Amino acid sequence: MDKQNKGPHDISPKPGQPIDEPTGYAYFATCARGVEPLLAQELWDLGVRQIELGLGGVHFYGPLEFLYLANLGARTAIRVLLPLMEFEIYHQDDLYEAVYHYPWEDHMTADHTLAVDCNLRDSIYTHSQYALLRVKDAICDRFRDKTGRRPSIDREKPLIAINLHMNRNQVVVSLDTSWESLHKRGYRPIQPRAPLNEALAAAILLRAGYQGQMPIYDPMCGAATLPIEAAWIATNRAPGLTRKWYAFQGWLNHDIGMFAKVRSELREKIRPKLANPVVGADERSDAVHLSHEAAKLAGVNNLIDFRVEALGQGLPPEGPPGWVVCNPPYGVRLGTASVLRETYKKLGGLVTGPWRGWSLALFTATPELAHETGLKFPQRWSYPNGALRCHLYLFGPHVPNLEGEQQNDPGEDPTAQERNQDQNEMPYDD
Ligand SMILES: C[S@@+](CC[C@H](N)C(=O)[O-])C[C@H]1O[C@@H](n2cnc3c(N)ncnc32)[C@H](O)[C@@H]1O
Repeated sequence: MDKQNKGPHDISPKPGQPIDEPTGYAYFATCARGVEPLLAQELWDLGVRQIELGLGGVHFYGPLEFLYLANLGARTAIRVLLPLMEFEIYHQDDLYEAVYHYPWEDHMTADHTLAVDCNLRDSIYTHSQYALLRVKDAICDRFRDKTGRRPSIDREKPLIAINLHMNRNQVVVSLDTSWESLHKRGYRPIQPRAPLNEALAAAILLRAGYQGQMPIYDPMCGAATLPIEAAWIATNRAPGLTRKWYAFQGWLNHDIGMFAKVRSELREKIRPKLANPVVGADERSDAVHLSHEAAKLAGVNNLIDFRVEALGQGLPPEGPPGWVVCNPPYGVRLGTASVLRETYKKLGGLVTGPWRGWSLALFTATPELAHETGLKFPQRWSYPNGALRCHLYLFGPHVPNLEGEQQNDPGEDPTAQERNQDQNEMPYDD
């Protein structure tokens, strides 16, 4: 460990303020609300230092190596921003003026393609499209005035991507170094029926303390997001290694040599085998077929044991017990209430019956259904899943000891009234 930094939460460079340019920048890696401590720990484990928890993301500061490590290696990150400007606006025109006067030629040329994205919250701009057009115009007008040429727009694969964040009159303009969300790992050729976001699947596993040190069984695996993410964690495979394009690759300050070094070092860390089994099952053979296809693309089809079996049919693999981890239908998108009550009851019966000694990580949007398991969960965590507020219920001998860390949702009664809905607002999330 560094002398200065004793853990991932103990530093305080101001976000957006490079302290030691040109060797260091300030960054903000975004994630779903509630996932921040997991992302901070991931960054720390990757070797990133000077980390500070934020809201909907994690601030960190340092060399470009950290930027590449975060983009390629952080399983729970959504994108990595490099804040360039922070200012306040009191009139709509203030936005254009501030952005126009920023030295964009330090980062791009008139020949770069450009894309701008925007998140607004209680801003004097009420339409994000309008705000991002003003930013795009300011940058393009500056290049036209200085060079006679304007950057063109490419939202698919821009050479420079800009993120505009406005919270009331506070504005942050950042380089979006990822552009396409980092949860898109590239192993999902067809969109399944009710997919779990890959970054959230990784968060579920990491929250359960999973590092590959015990077996995993997902009895309702759908398109196998949880088993694939588990196999990637267990083999130490960085999630970004198969990705073809990051927006930092067009940035003028991109260090191709450092990027290649980080990528090849991450590749060298991949372990070829699992130390413990990862099993994915589903009653639908088409889901298991989809799982095989996704696992092939993820390079782990030979490592995961896929089975077509209904909940309750499967028996534990030989060896020590591990986690039953699953994301059953919630009743919102799939399934009907009475069938689902029975499903959740069976799930509870699994870890008190034939799978006794195993722990259960249950991810669902419906507390009443979690209650049907008949289990008393010592930990419950809340995470947004698209528009839904979902909960991760942990039960059993492998539930991590929190050692002073606060649960983001200490609600013990799964049927308790939902509270603080808007606490889970995601300022930066997709
Ligand atoms: C919400 S989806 C899981 C999505 C999955 N996590 C993914 O990332 O694709 C629920 C899955 O549970 C399966 N399922 C529902 N009831 C089941 C049962 N009784 N036994 C086995 N699988 C079941 C469904 O076929 C469906 O694929």
